[in-house]
Amino acid sequence: MKYRGIIFDLDGVVCSTDEYHYLAWKALADRLGIPFDRERNSLLRGVSRMDSLRIILEKADRAYTDAEMAAFAEEKNALYRELLGRMSPADLSDDVRATLDALRADGKRLAIGSSSKNTPFILERLGLSDFFDAVADGNCITHSKPHPEVFLKAAEMLGLAPCDCLVVEDAHAGVEAARRGGFDCAAIGDARDDARAAYSLDRLSDLLGI
Ligand code: BG6
Ligand code: MG
Repeated sequence: MKYRGIIFDLDGVVCSTDEYHYLAWKALADRLGIPFDRERNSLLRGVSRMDSLRIILEKADRAYTDAEMAAFAEEKNALYRELLGRMSPADLSDDVRATLDALRADGKRLAIGSSSKNTPFILERLGLSDFFDAVADGNCITHSKPHPEVFLKAAEMLGLAPCDCLVVEDAHAGVEAARRGGFDCAAIGDARDDARAAYSLDRLSDLLGI
């Protein structure tokens, strides 16, 4: 592979926390009587917590104050973190573990580029707190994907130019962010058929054939 660095999105790429996001948002939407399903959930991939909430509330039949919205985001995050708390290193799939180890053995610089403020907690649950060379996440950015800030920050932390890095994403917003930042992108899962991605992956280990 020609890239010196790989920047991985976290939720839906390294781990299946995207399902936990869905369950937690679904519980909140049901409580508020707002229609929400897996199709609408895919609009939230890669998008920040508050922007996700705004998308969900588009289907509400009344307006909510900023204070109510802050409480809803907190309610969702508490449930989400309860689900995350049940995760362990066993939740890292064999395919993901083998891929990360092979790239590391090949001397690649590896980073996380995630919109999530829960990134440190998730990496800890998975036993990956010390694995990556750089972690750029929702705690160190002001613009969420599709803005390229988080990937540009990850590349800077790796000491590499965007053209030397490959971004791996499962969100259309993330593929757009990668392209806007000048990165090639490998798309997986929900974003697999996104025409803006240079590569499409059935599984993470397909990266090893690039
Ligand atoms: C992204 C997810 O990784 O993180 C989004 O794809 C989520 O669905 C965003 O909204 C923010 O996550 P958190 O953990 O900060 O609420
Ligand atoms: Mg994702």
